Amino acid sequence: MNPTQLFDPRSCTYTYLLFDEGTREALIIDPVDTQLERDLDAIARLELKLRWTVETHAHADHITSAAQLAELTGARMAAPAGCEVGTAAVQLKDGDTLRFGAETLHVLHTPGHTAGSVCFYWERGAGHAEDTLARGQVSRVDQRSAPRHVFSGDTLLIGGCGRTDFQSGDAGQLWDSITQVLFKLPGDTLVWPGHDYHERTQSTIALERATNPRLAGQTREAFIQLMGALSLPKPGRIDEAVPANRRSGLRQDAAGAADAGGAEVTAATGYAGDITPATAHRWMENGQAVLVDVRTDAEREWVGFVPGAQAVAWKQWPGMAMNPAFDAEIEAVAEGGLPLMLLCRSGVRSVAAARRATELGLAAYNILGGFEGDPDDQAQRGHKNGWRRAGLPWRQN
Ligand SMILES: [Fe+2]
Repeated sequence: MNPTQLFDPRSCTYTYLLFDEGTREALIIDPVDTQLERDLDAIARLELKLRWTVETHAHADHITSAAQLAELTGARMAAPAGCEVGTAAVQLKDGDTLRFGAETLHVLHTPGHTAGSVCFYWERGAGHAEDTLARGQVSRVDQRSAPRHVFSGDTLLIGGCGRTDFQSGDAGQLWDSITQVLFKLPGDTLVWPGHDYHERTQSTIALERATNPRLAGQTREAFIQLMGALSLPKPGRIDEAVPANRRSGLRQDAAGAADAGGAEVTAATGYAGDITPATAHRWMENGQAVLVDVRTDAEREWVGFVPGAQAVAWKQWPGMAMNPAFDAEIEAVAEGGLPLMLLCRSGVRSVAAARRATELGLAAYNILGGFEGDPDDQAQRGHKNGWRRAGLPWRQN
């Protein structure tokens, strides 16, 4: 199925994988951090090259895996300009387009659930038609060959809509976004919501126009009154999720806690544990363990490297393809009998590589924060954590 609809039962969130059938270039909408392995499996199984991770808004009920997917696949991150996601290189505004292969995704700014919320409109097979998608209009393509889809985030749900009582929500704006933007799309446009709590998967614009109980036959005033009277409980994860989502899902809490002292090794699932750069450097100096740099050749060449580290790439440019020789190369490094300490850019690929090394029967630790560290609110690396920030030895060619 294209789009592929994926469900996270804990948050009832839908994630969507869209791809161009010719080039296999793909785009993922609203990925969830706890479903990272599932999404990577889907990408691999469908033989896709992930080009973009995109968000409909800064979610309050789950944490995105955007930064991890970007690190692991080489995809670029895009997020709505009004959602303060400083780590996304591409800030999406109304009318913007994202290309994947021969396909084009259109951005519709639909404030209301949050001020920055967007929906995404896709005419599959429409190509790169440059007709601008003005508010309420669709591009002039051969509509018989271009099934229409709208990914409606939390703006429009099946038989409902997103709440408007927190995070810059505004019921009047939501009414305008739904009735003036989404309901102006052709009636046969498939609606793919950001959530559903009743096992429904999709709807159409015509069906929602006619039957959505919050909207059909209502007035703007009645809708505002209804939304104001819902008195819903505060989302369970809002205090944790919104700040994390403003960094594309990266959390510095683990690294920070370890840096503050305490145990030398932080427990982890699927590999020997997490260690700080300082611990890794000490173990390397003492000859207790081997430092293995799992970044690409290009990163070591252009960004910098640690003298004495062994290079075993997990993925390589171009395209961040898996290194087919990873298993053999890492086993060769481990032949000396010492445990391995894996270093990547910011500690994402090194976790994946440490898990693989563990499956091969090796003792492998992950170095928190990696070589460059996690990005700060301006998306700049090296100010928060990581090997270079810790003042440990490194060189540049
Ligand atoms: Fe939301």
